[in-house]
Amino acid sequence: GRRVTVRDLIAAKERGERWPMITAYDAMTARVFDQAGIPVLLVGDSAAMVVYGYDSTLPVTVDDLLPLTAAVVRGSARALVVADLPFGSYQGSPQQALETASRFMKEAGAHAVKLEGGRRVLPQVELLISAGIPVMAHLGLTPQSVNVLGGYRVQGRGQSGDELMSDAKDLERAGAFSVVLECVPAELAERVTTSIAIPTIGIGAGPATDAQVLVWQDLMGLTQRPARFVKQYADLATEMDRAVRAYAADVVSGAFPEAVHTYG
Ligand code: KIV
Ligand code: NA
Repeated sequence: GRRVTVRDLIAAKERGERWPMITAYDAMTARVFDQAGIPVLLVGDSAAMVVYGYDSTLPVTVDDLLPLTAAVVRGSARALVVADLPFGSYQGSPQQALETASRFMKEAGAHAVKLEGGRRVLPQVELLISAGIPVMAHLGLTPQSVNVLGGYRVQGRGQSGDELMSDAKDLERAGAFSVVLECVPAELAERVTTSIAIPTIGIGAGPATDAQVLVWQDLMGLTQRPARFVKQYADLATEMDRAVRAYAADVVSGAFPEAVHTYG
């Protein structure tokens, strides 16, 4: 079968169908999620934290993310793979955004890119679309702006909700195929969702968005202190701890390897 396309996602909204997005950063997890039928895989700049161990998304670079994106593309067969453009790689100018996004499309094989912001990145969005690069937008809590926002906190309360709404409409007009809404009141996310024809993808945005996204390590229970918006569907930290301790004990005791693991 063919890959999911941006048109499929817009058509799903027309039919009132919700869909899941999840992050991926390597080929093997990408294959698991792809074979489970997840239609969109995001190679998030959250890799800064969950892959590279930084405490914000700001330090991660294009060169850090390109090989992860290529691995996710190789590991998947059906999903649309979206590459997150990292901090400092697109804000400077539309031309800079095009150069960066082109690298993700050409060198990593991404099918779309994501960038953060509303009115301030509209020229970037317009140029990317005109160059043939599908753009996923991201409003609300935009972690690359954490130092301006003053922390990881709910966005869009009060009057800033109207600004977010007009940003969403402008992004739709500029040609974005979807918009992530992060950490915004559910009521605002619902109003945005019913006001635009492109899918909204919520994370900490309540139940009314067209899609949901989570960082896979959060939903699998690998993250230390997950946010309120995370639902934990597995406890991999406990399971991996159990397994690695059992392996270590077997090595120390000599219980591993056994005959079946051994070549004569
Ligand atoms: O980087 C990321 O993982 C993201 C999603 C949480 C939307 O931007
Ligand atoms: Na991100």
